[in-house]
Amino acid sequence: MPPSTHHAAWLRAPRQALALGEAASTPPGPGEILVQNRAIAINPFDGIVQSLGSVVTPWLRYPAVLGSDLCGEVVAVGPGVSRFAPGDRVVGLALGVEKTANRGAEGAFQERVILREACAARIPPELAFEQAAVLPLAFATAACGLFLARHLGLRHPSVAPPGQAPDEAVLVWGASTSVGSCAVQLAAAAGYAVIATCSARQFEHARRLGAGACVDYRDPAALERIVQALDGRRLAGVLCLAVGAAGACIDVAARCPGPRKVAMASTPVSLVDAPLDRQLGWKLRRLARMGLGFARLALRARRSGVGTSAIWGSSVVEDPWGSRLFEDFLEPALASGSFRPAPQPLVAGSGLAAIPEAMAMLRQGVSARKVVVSLPGARPD
Ligand SMILES: NC(=O)c1ccc[n+]([C@@H]2O[C@H](COP(=O)([O-])OP(=O)(O)OC[C@H]3O[C@@H](n4cnc5c(N)ncnc54)[C@H](OP(=O)(O)O)[C@@H]3O)[C@@H](O)[C@H]2O)c1
Repeated sequence: MPPSTHHAAWLRAPRQALALGEAASTPPGPGEILVQNRAIAINPFDGIVQSLGSVVTPWLRYPAVLGSDLCGEVVAVGPGVSRFAPGDRVVGLALGVEKTANRGAEGAFQERVILREACAARIPPELAFEQAAVLPLAFATAACGLFLARHLGLRHPSVAPPGQAPDEAVLVWGASTSVGSCAVQLAAAAGYAVIATCSARQFEHARRLGAGACVDYRDPAALERIVQALDGRRLAGVLCLAVGAAGACIDVAARCPGPRKVAMASTPVSLVDAPLDRQLGWKLRRLARMGLGFARLALRARRSGVGTSAIWGSSVVEDPWGSRLFEDFLEPALASGSFRPAPQPLVAGSGLAAIPEAMAMLRQGVSARKVVVSLPGARPD
């Protein structure tokens, strides 16, 4: 039997520092597994919820446990779960902060986490927990934007992708982001040629993951270079993964033959750099700028005949196809080596106490790295 309590990094109220404390260990319900956490990754969303929670996630019940990405060992399975057994090494998307869950037991920033069966995949024995932990939200967000009909609606990926030369391309704007590192691989696995934007020092990173052409997003001639890289192919869609880049993505979609669609995971204005001690007025001004940014984008898109959509990554698992993504794609693709965890983890420290420092590191900015905290001290059974 798992211990009845464990440690969690609690967010007791909006805009407070995380506080370590005890949490009651919840037995897994139907369709759920209980995981002993070995590594977590930090996402921009974690800091946004902490500093702006009452505005961006008004449903959130406090005290809350943040965190979407984790990797660990199954310690118990709930009724009806047949895919997993205690001892399995899994990577999973934690839904604690989601409106549909809104439950501390499902947040990643604690020693033992409840995961939905559909949001978990076994990982190969040679894969370190810290490496696999970079994946869940980035993978879900990339898949959501690329494949769901309300976004780009592309052909679905295959563990053994088609070999023929692609006649359509996808633009991943921000290929060195965590989401982009998954998106490049997923789009290639679906049989598309991938055009990537990132800084020139990350071209090799994007190419290793499957990008056929790389363009520096800072290059004033980026748009022309993307059109050139298309080389007569149709542009099946644009995935926008960088703050403030949606305008450029709309311009590319408007210029190229194809369905003229842009799916956006990022906002027009950054919310990540909102430290806790900023006053509410500063945050409200930032949110107002963001609203204005979205309105300008909508106008630009309408004038150019481009369709845009805003991605909520974790919602992919509510889709009938997306609900099988971890089982039918991620698990076999990791096992076969056709999909690789990327970017490389940047381990900020060890133990739940290292999470605030890790969140601060991410706020400073990363390039083709994912900030991770390992939890080696978590109690084994
Ligand atoms: N909507 C959702 O559900 C959802 C879920 C997850 C993430 N997101 C959002 O998606 C975005 C990516 O998240 P992430 O965690 O993957 O980010 P990340 O890895 O922390 O992003 C860092 C990367 O951003 C790149 N970058 C910065 N400005 C850029 C620009 N103008 N054009 C292209 N690349 C640029 C940098 O590239 P270089 O180092 O090459 O310059 C760097 O590698 C963020 O805005 C995040 O908030 C949304």
